[in-house]
Amino acid sequence: MAGLSKEMEKALNDQINAELYSAYLYLSMATYCEDQRLKGFANWMVNQSMEEMIHAKKFFDYIIERGGRVKLAEVKAPPTEWSSAKEVFEQALKHEEYITSRINDLAALADRENDRATLNMLQWFIDEQVEEEASVQDVLDKFELLADHPGGMYILDNDLMGRSAPSQASPGE
Ligand code: FEO
Repeated sequence: MAGLSKEMEKALNDQINAELYSAYLYLSMATYCEDQRLKGFANWMVNQSMEEMIHAKKFFDYIIERGGRVKLAEVKAPPTEWSSAKEVFEQALKHEEYITSRINDLAALADRENDRATLNMLQWFIDEQVEEEASVQDVLDKFELLADHPGGMYILDNDLMGRSAPSQASPGE
């Protein structure tokens, strides 16, 4: 099989950077939640951050497998302040929608190049992004459900404490 095109190699390297930024963003969101004494929210975000590291590593491994060269670049600093835990999750959803659009652009490039192997690899990420957006939306829905409950934030914080660390074998779980 022919190696990656230069354009595809660059696009996949850029995606490693986007996934590492995602990890950094969610870790920053976790520190904000910790600062608000919301340990369950922080737990959710730390585990989300770890999942993004697994995503980055998947692209890393794939580039190498195809005989390409991984070139790591500067990861920009994430924001550090939000107005509330709810805003954190609203921004997380926006970010996941942005990542979905990036994955779709990568798939369109693979399609143009008739690079079926890359398209196949990206199919995992296309499915994963459906889960990624749904899991953030799920938390936002709970905010709505508990909005009028006096102990709503406490209940939700406890609920989010239940998210466990991702495993390398099943990053989507
Ligand atoms: Fe790696 Fe949350 O997308």
